[in-house]
Amino acid sequence: FSLKKHNTFGIEAKAKQFVAVHTLDELETLLKQHQNEKKFILGGGSNMLLTKDIDALVIHVDLKGKRIIQEDEDFVWVEGQAGEVWHDFVLWTIAQNFGGLENMSLIPGNVGTTPVQNIGAYGTEIKDTFVSCEAIHVETQERRIFTHSACQFGYRESIFKHEVKGQYIITSVVFKLTKRNHNIHTDYGDIRSELDRKSITHPTLQDISNAVIAIRQQKLPDPKVLGNSGSFFKNPIISKTHFEKVQAQFPDVKFFEVSPTEVKVPAGWLIEQAGLKGYRKGDAGVHKNQALVLVNYGSATGQELLDLSKYVQDTVLKKYNIAIEAEVNVV
Ligand code: EPU
Repeated sequence: FSLKKHNTFGIEAKAKQFVAVHTLDELETLLKQHQNEKKFILGGGSNMLLTKDIDALVIHVDLKGKRIIQEDEDFVWVEGQAGEVWHDFVLWTIAQNFGGLENMSLIPGNVGTTPVQNIGAYGTEIKDTFVSCEAIHVETQERRIFTHSACQFGYRESIFKHEVKGQYIITSVVFKLTKRNHNIHTDYGDIRSELDRKSITHPTLQDISNAVIAIRQQKLPDPKVLGNSGSFFKNPIISKTHFEKVQAQFPDVKFFEVSPTEVKVPAGWLIEQAGLKGYRKGDAGVHKNQALVLVNYGSATGQELLDLSKYVQDTVLKKYNIAIEAEVNVV
């Protein structure tokens, strides 16, 4: 079974067996039937690089549904099933004037995988509105609720990438959103200038979403047109002492303070200044508008993209003595 259509990089890789599940019961039955067999869980396929065929049963989690589960005057609790397309889910909340997810418009992927790497964009992360998620244990089929604190969220991090990696399948997620007094975030990057361009002084949730969509469309390649997995690397967090040395040598270096002793440096800037923006080898390339994104121009293999990522990492390390880590899950 070809996985080409199931990963946004558009890599040609094969699965030994592939099953899409549409209900929780179906999922539970399937897991029971294939106990002690190798399994590989696939959501939207938007955060992974396949470098080889998958010698396992690939389970495509395609649970659909979204609903309001509770509300009061100020807040609403909404639940999305894991297989809902994230952007459609965000638009559904905005259409009802529920606030909190608008800055994360147009992020590829499905609702069920958002907690894994605590997705975020333009000044917000899902941990800001996340309440809990439900998951099923792959081997025991025990169902478990992970509360916010149980998820141990960090920058592009959660327990699902560490202690319980590969053990659970997230089946639904609950968010707490605002019904009024929305926390509008317009400070990050180009949002404000995008709103100014349209003379919007009191942005609605829809205005913010539209601004984010416009910015993303300018910078980030559409996976339907050009295969990619969003940011391939995480922005490195380094000590202030280390940063000061880098800054002495490269006075223009961009940074965000994350704590009194640590600084986050945009990897896109490091890669661009190392001369690699737009770099291409065969069909594997560094995107021309956003150097943090690696792209597949057509028939790049996972290995070619992995080699390119290593080349980028080596170049950045040599030039700045900063190690950049992959954000994408390399399989
Ligand atoms: N920059 C460059 N050259 C580039 C790219 C960026 O100089 O090629 C500079 C920009 O000028 C800016 C800074 O780096 O000063 C930050 O750039 P940008 O706002 O584009 O964001 P980013 O740090 O490169 C992060 C996320 C993105 C998210 C944006 C906006 C990570 C790994 N990536 O990128 O998330 O959309 O911020 O919030 O944190 C993703 O995770 O897949 C993703 C796309």
